[in-house]
Amino acid sequence: MHEFTTPKETKKEEKYESIILQIKHLVKDEKDIIGILSNIAAAIHQTFEWLWVGFYIVKKNQLILGPFQGPVACFRIEKGKGVCGMTWKLNKTIIVHDVEKFPGHIACSSDSKSEIVLPIKKNNRIFGVLDIDSIELNSFDKTDQKYLEKIVNIIEKKLG
Ligand code: SME
Repeated sequence: MHEFTTPKETKKEEKYESIILQIKHLVKDEKDIIGILSNIAAAIHQTFEWLWVGFYIVKKNQLILGPFQGPVACFRIEKGKGVCGMTWKLNKTIIVHDVEKFPGHIACSSDSKSEIVLPIKKNNRIFGVLDIDSIELNSFDKTDQKYLEKIVNIIEKKLG
């Protein structure tokens, strides 16, 4: 078992570079997608100490709660609802600097202040989303998007 080492670097870019390498190594011999998503959620959560890091997976026209790290969350999200449902509907990454200003935001935890959600695709269809919540406003920017898309890419390759 590969041991995950939390990067000591202080710059966000360096932390991402480090965990991306480790995630690639961690998942290279594994095929089970639930295990892969679980360890990726843990690796991101452990590195950045964000409030909530996890996945919702499309099943029968709803997003269903998948592997995550953080507080208890809602089980199901309809297409177009909340940041996750809107990411699914629009098929693009959404960065929310202040969740109170996002109409229809679903507050699973009142501690969440900003959020980023990225679509994950399989055969050109949405497989699910990666959702990350922070207790601070303005936690996510284009740098996070760029690196988290690389992590999503690792997942998409595993989905085939
Ligand atoms: N805030 C999300 C719901 C999921 S929780 O944050 C874990 C949304 O608005 O879709």
